[in-house]
Parts: sequence; structure tokens; C-alpha cells
Amino acid sequence: MKALVLSGGSGTRLRPFSYSMPKQLIPIINKPVLEHVLENVRALGIVDVGVIVGDRGPQIAAVIGDGSRLGLDITYIPQDAPRGLAHTVAIARDFLGEDDFLMYLGDNMLPDGIEEIAADFAAERPAAQLLVHKVADPRAFGVAEIGPDGAVERLVEKPAVPRSDLALIGVYFFTPAIHEAVAAIEPSTRGELEITDAVQWLVERGAAVRASRYEGYWKDTGRVEDVLECNRRMLDGLEGRVDGDVDAASTLTGAVIVEAGARIVGSHVVGPAVIGAGTLVENSHVGPHTTIGRDCVLSDTRLAYSITLDGATVRGVSGLHGSLIGRSATVGPAEATGRQRLVVGDHTHVEVAA
Ligand code: DAU
Repeated sequence: MKALVLSGGSGTRLRPFSYSMPKQLIPIINKPVLEHVLENVRALGIVDVGVIVGDRGPQIAAVIGDGSRLGLDITYIPQDAPRGLAHTVAIARDFLGEDDFLMYLGDNMLPDGIEEIAADFAAERPAAQLLVHKVADPRAFGVAEIGPDGAVERLVEKPAVPRSDLALIGVYFFTPAIHEAVAAIEPSTRGELEITDAVQWLVERGAAVRASRYEGYWKDTGRVEDVLECNRRMLDGLEGRVDGDVDAASTLTGAVIVEAGARIVGSHVVGPAVIGAGTLVENSHVGPHTTIGRDCVLSDTRLAYSITLDGATVRGVSGLHGSLIGRSATVGPAEATGRQRLVVGDHTHVEVAA
């Protein structure tokens, strides 16, 4: 069994972050989403992993390397443009050979694991085994109609009028039967080779295509709101640990991780929260549900339900909530002139008090 992990794509919904980094490297509890994905793959006993990368491939390779750190043997497979999920299967044809494989979207978080469904697939080997999850609004997802026995009857990618409330999770198990389907389909109206069309092709030819309802936690981290929500969920499972310095004037409440080299000075940190290595927090109130990256500076600041990426500085700002602050970004108070000044990049989202 091999795995194909998709880490290309354009990440338009995660602008401005995706201008400078692939969305799969956005950190959740200070670890890239892609690394969480690869750990889930390894937990299934899979070692041979093909990682699809686009033009940000070198950045991904710099963080993930050859996979040995994670117990994996990684082969990078470049994709010239985001031509669709089925296109990635086509370009990975040589890597996949005649093996069964797990296709896993590199921005999907399933922290509860998928061991049981993987075992079902290995035992029964349907041509395709999909995971579905009930959602309130399925229009942003692939949507499945399934029979009472779990057989897939119909799949549609992002339908305007969904015929079921079962969204496709970005995790798929395939036998090599998928390759004929991928070769047979045409690009969709949005110009992509859709994996949903390839699986629908199998359904129409009577192949066994099954869907398992996944009841655990699932998040597609494609939007800022999803990143913050997923970070909150992952923080809730953490145990506190102090490897850095906390001075006598500071208090930590609840589960707080203070990484090595971090300093908490005259501050109050409410868990669950992570303070990254080398970061200084002074005269501030941080948390709950907050992750501060490495080598950040927070001073005279109140910040909750937020993430700051590595090297960010926040000074003299109170009341920040639901914020995602980019690498080496600075946020500070207005000068004494009373004028407010913003240097805001393309597609940035800022909300200021009137
Ligand atoms: O998250 C679940 C959803 O993921 C499913 O319900 C949909 O059926 C499926 O099409 C997919 O929809 P998204 O709109 O979320 O797909 P996105 O374009 O974000 O791509 C998913 C991942 O695959 C992402 O990590 C980027 C990568 N990718 C995407 C394309 C289109 C590639 O590596 N190459 C590609 O050509």
C-alpha cells in the first residue's frame, strides 16, 4: 500500500498567506498541516509516499525533506499547474504502479485517525472506498449519495443544489482500477480533472465503490476560519509543559506549553495555549486557544483565539481575537499623532475599531 499526498494547488482562499507559503505549511499547534497529514499516513503503516507539489515544491521539501524524520520514504512528484485531483493520480502513475493506494489531500485534518476504515478497505478491497461526513452546507464539497448498505450511487463535485448532506472528505482508498477511470474522463466545466468524475465513472460501470461515514473530527483547512477552529480543537487535547522560563510575576492557567527558550515576563497565559521556542511574552494576556509561533514578541498585548506565525511582533494592542498573524508581521499601536497607519498586503483582511 502506498500513499499519494496532495500538496500542490493554488490556495486562493488562504490569501495573503498562500502568496508566500503553500497552504499545507500553515501551522496548527505550531506544526504544518502537511506534517499532521503525513503522521496520519504513517500511523496506517504506510511508508512509501508520493507528495504532489506545485511551484512551492522547494519550500515543502525544505520542511519535510526525504521523510526519514517521520519514518517515511517520500518521492516528490511535481505538477505543472493545479489541473485537478484526478490529474495528480495520472502524473503519479509510475510511482503508484500496480499498488493499492491512499490518496490524502494535504490540507485535510483528521486527528482522530482513519485506522478502522483503512482496515475495512484492506479486507474488502472495493475499487474505491470514500469517507463522508454530514455537513450543514455541502455546496463547497464533493457530495455523495449513498445507499443504506454504504454503496455509492452518485457523486457530484460542489453542486449548487446538493442532493444529500454528505460531504466527501479528502481521503480516498483506491485499487489500481482507478487508473482506467482517470484515463477515461474529460476535464470538468471548471477545467479540472475531477476525482469525483473518475469515481462516478467506476460507479456507472458497476465497480464496487463504498463510502464510510466518518464520525471523528474533520476539517478542511482551506480558509482562515477553518485554520483557527482546527487549532482550537487540537489545543483542547494538549497537556501543558514548561521548557522555557516563566518569571515570578507571571501566571499560567490550564494547559500551557512553553517551549524551550521562550520567556514569559509579567504576563498571564490562559490555556490551552502554546508559546513557541524563542518567543518573548511580556506584560501581556494570552489565550485561551492561542498558538504563538517561534521567535515572536508580544508585549503589552491581549490576544485570544488566535495564531501568530514565526517571527511576528505584536506590541501595545488589546482585544485581538480570531486573528491569524503572518510570519515576521508587525502589529502595533498608533503613533501619538492619533493617526492610524496600515501597511496591508494584497488580499489581506483587517478589522479595526471605529
Ligand atoms: O476537503 C474535501 C474536499 O476537497 C472534497 O469534498 C472535494 O470533493 C475535493 O474536490 C476537494 O475540494 P477542495 O476545493 O477543497 O480542493 P482544493 O482545490 O483545495 O485541493 C485539495 C488539495 O489538493 C489541496 O491540498 C491542494 C491539492 N491539489 C489540488 C489540485 C486541484 C493539488 O495538489 N493539485 C491539484 O491539481
